[in-house]
Amino acid sequence: MERPTLYVTRLLPQPVLDAISVQYRMLADPTDRPATEEELRRGFAEAQAVICTLTDRIDVSMLSHATNLKIIANYAVGYNNIDLPAAIRRGIIVTNTPDVLTDATADLTWALLLALTRRVVEGEAWVRTGRWPGWAPTQMLGTDVSGKTLGIVGMGRIGQAVAQRAAGFRMPVIYAARHSVPSQPGASWAWRHLDEVLAESDFVSLHVPLTEATHHLIDRRKLALMKPTAFLINTSRGPVIDEAALLSALEAKTIAGAGLDVYEQEPVVPARLMSLPNVVLLPHLGSATLETRVRMGFICLDNIAAVLRGRPAPNRVT
Ligand code: DGY
Repeated sequence: MERPTLYVTRLLPQPVLDAISVQYRMLADPTDRPATEEELRRGFAEAQAVICTLTDRIDVSMLSHATNLKIIANYAVGYNNIDLPAAIRRGIIVTNTPDVLTDATADLTWALLLALTRRVVEGEAWVRTGRWPGWAPTQMLGTDVSGKTLGIVGMGRIGQAVAQRAAGFRMPVIYAARHSVPSQPGASWAWRHLDEVLAESDFVSLHVPLTEATHHLIDRRKLALMKPTAFLINTSRGPVIDEAALLSALEAKTIAGAGLDVYEQEPVVPARLMSLPNVVLLPHLGSATLETRVRMGFICLDNIAAVLRGRPAPNRVT
């Protein structure tokens, strides 16, 4: 029996590619750079299933080529890169990879928060210069984390996982979300209006999906509500923050600093942002552990297998 045709837009971890080669005819050898428009168009025109990533813009024009396509398995939990209504109109199922990247992303959120407040990146760079003169009482003083208030914006799986970790730091947690989320054994949190979360928190961490409603959710007015001693952490999607407004707030020191894993126009990071001392900037590493990226690949394959066999996709978003 002929194997179904699968188009994979980017290089995935080897165990995932090995599994793919057993079950599918791969349309092209995936490469470690974003696919060109032309490559995407060809893939969408010929494949029965596609695995794509957040760097592939799947809009109505791309979908118009998809005459054989049954499923787009997005290799991410966020799926703002895909025009969902257009996919629905064409009867194409779209799936994502929830759950498996929750811990990795929550861990990275804490890595950013701690790196920022304890000046880890700066300190490490100093030691590598070979010019560190040794310990001194007033050297590179950071900010306490334990016992401070953590504010979470968006209390889905990742927001809750970040909040759970705060228990180890004895931090009160407040959150803003559309629905209230019950506390868990050993980890408690309290709902507040978004404005209150921004005004009361020492650290504000963003965990909302990017939608029309959350685009520039953190704008000039919201940033102005934050304490001058507070830090903003974003491991969700760049456009959730109005980056120009954030730049002004950081430059004017109306907030203390920011830890960013995502940017408004990835991979472009504004030079003004890069020149600031009160930021830690990561290259969208939220889910970037080998184990997680392998699990994400297998989730895509589970969804594709289900759809091509006429069964419901476990992680359908359309
Ligand atoms: C996601 O899954 O949305 C992440 O941003 C990918 O790392």
